[in-house]
Amino acid sequence: MPKLAVVYLSTTGNTKSMAEAISDGARSRNVDVEVKSFYDWKPEEAAAADAIAIGSSTFHYTMLPPIEKFVDGVIVAGAKGKDGAAFGSYGWSGEAPTMIAEKMRKGGINVLDPVLRVQYKPNEKDIKECNRLGKDLAEKIKK
Ligand SMILES: Cc1cc2nc3c(=O)[nH]c(=O)nc-3n(C[C@H](O)[C@H](O)[C@H](O)COP(=O)(O)O)c2cc1C
Repeated sequence: MPKLAVVYLSTTGNTKSMAEAISDGARSRNVDVEVKSFYDWKPEEAAAADAIAIGSSTFHYTMLPPIEKFVDGVIVAGAKGKDGAAFGSYGWSGEAPTMIAEKMRKGGINVLDPVLRVQYKPNEKDIKECNRLGKDLAEKIKK
């Protein structure tokens, strides 16, 4: 079965909720999904999946160094040419998801649109959009 790796950095659970909704969407399309914090992933493990979704909340107008390092690790481990997605919760400026997407694209990962950003806690509509992104990723890797 094709596999999707979902990686997140989340301090209060908002980006984690998005990660879980993306995973639910993908599972509904019958792909194997593994979702966990970046802290529990090895970059090479994530890079071995058929698609990689990476999310982080924004702090101090940027992405935090550990998630930046993680994206670099995934690219070095050979994720070039694979499908991906970037997402994250934010408060007022929300740079991290776009920065993650840009880094992934520079590394040759085909990042699907939209790059999903949700202000604070995802509402019902946000969760549906996350489900949709998960389904779209799943359809990509099933082909
Ligand atoms: C110390 C601190 C700095 C933050 N800096 C930013 C920022 O620069 N831009 C922004 O959009 N949100 C900022 N936020 C808001 C968080 O991104 C927001 O609360 C987000 O929903 C947290 O998601 P998480 O639970 O997945 O970590 C900041 C929050 C904290 C606590």
